[in-house]
Amino acid sequence: MLTRREFAASLLGVAGAALLAAAPSRADTPSLNDLARRSGRVFGAAMRADQLAAEPALRKAAAAECGMLTPEIHLKWNSIENRKGSIWYEPVDQLVAFAARNGQKVYGHALLWEQSTPDWALRELKARRNWRLVSDHFERVLGRYGETIEVWDVVNEPIDTQGGRQGLRRNTFHRVFGPGYIAHALETARHYAPRARLMLNDYSFEYDNHVEADRRKTFLRLVADLKGRGVPLDGVGLQAHLDLGKGPLKRPVIAPFMQALADMGLEIYITELDVKERDYRATPQTRDARVADEVARYLDIALDQKAVKGVTTWGLSDRHSWLRIERGDRIDRKRYGNPAPNRGLPYDAAMQPKPMHQALAQAFSGGLT
Ligand code: XIL
Repeated sequence: MLTRREFAASLLGVAGAALLAAAPSRADTPSLNDLARRSGRVFGAAMRADQLAAEPALRKAAAAECGMLTPEIHLKWNSIENRKGSIWYEPVDQLVAFAARNGQKVYGHALLWEQSTPDWALRELKARRNWRLVSDHFERVLGRYGETIEVWDVVNEPIDTQGGRQGLRRNTFHRVFGPGYIAHALETARHYAPRARLMLNDYSFEYDNHVEADRRKTFLRLVADLKGRGVPLDGVGLQAHLDLGKGPLKRPVIAPFMQALADMGLEIYITELDVKERDYRATPQTRDARVADEVARYLDIALDQKAVKGVTTWGLSDRHSWLRIERGDRIDRKRYGNPAPNRGLPYDAAMQPKPMHQALAQAFSGGLT
């Protein structure tokens, strides 16, 4: 079978490919979202309202490139209600307004995630074991944004095949309410947002190793069980934090996993794409090429799957990346110290597009731009 890239090339022939390759002037270069839209998809990025407000170049790129924005932190419970009863919508409203001005959608991330649950709520959940705490939070957030925002990560990162119980993460929700908390959360979200599309979002499904194989299997089992019981689940978010330390991406690993999700009638969003580097000693050119290759390889597989409705990168620019150097990473600190040591996003720290940007553009165009 031909890959998308080969197929597009065969349709266009050499002359067509040459035509497309003739670089248009910058002003009429299609944006990443323009290209994504040609195959009925959307391109988005995670954003923070404070960073948008402070950086004109970021505003310009976000407005131009994206058809969708994911609030990187503002919709999380510990941002909305870090202290009990003191509610902070402002940055969400700013991001929603920015998106509206630019004709962009917003992706709702994330209603329930242990790591972004404020301490007071974790304490009360343990003490009172009362679902009302969760449903009040859902009611508040979905009551305000459940109509404007069409897609929601209802539960974030429920899978843990290593320290979990039957593959489910032993978080506070699991400890207090049992494994049924996931179905319960989806039903609660449906109640407060009858028209929204409800998702589970999780990571580490990409590579050919035992841990990720277990995670894929467990995730499919979880999702099949929920669908089988009629729990309201419309899709899944695959974070896709790619990692250059985890060995080659393989079509026979990723494609059947996505197909199994698609066969259950689920839509798929790639929700947090970026690339973690491991060797920071090479030249920036080499590093950028490695990052771009990884993204090209992943999207070549992922975009063959029709159920994949959108691709979101976890930020646009390296200067805002959440990825940090870790123990074991190889780095020449004198040469590449700060800032923003990881180069795993489409724009560099000075807001210049990098080969990863080109890789995204090519992937959306079926390999030919
Ligand atoms: C991260 C943000 O990027 C950080 O700024 C924040 O401090 C912690 O959360 N998986 C997720 C995202 O689902 O919400 C995380 O975002 C990255 C990992």
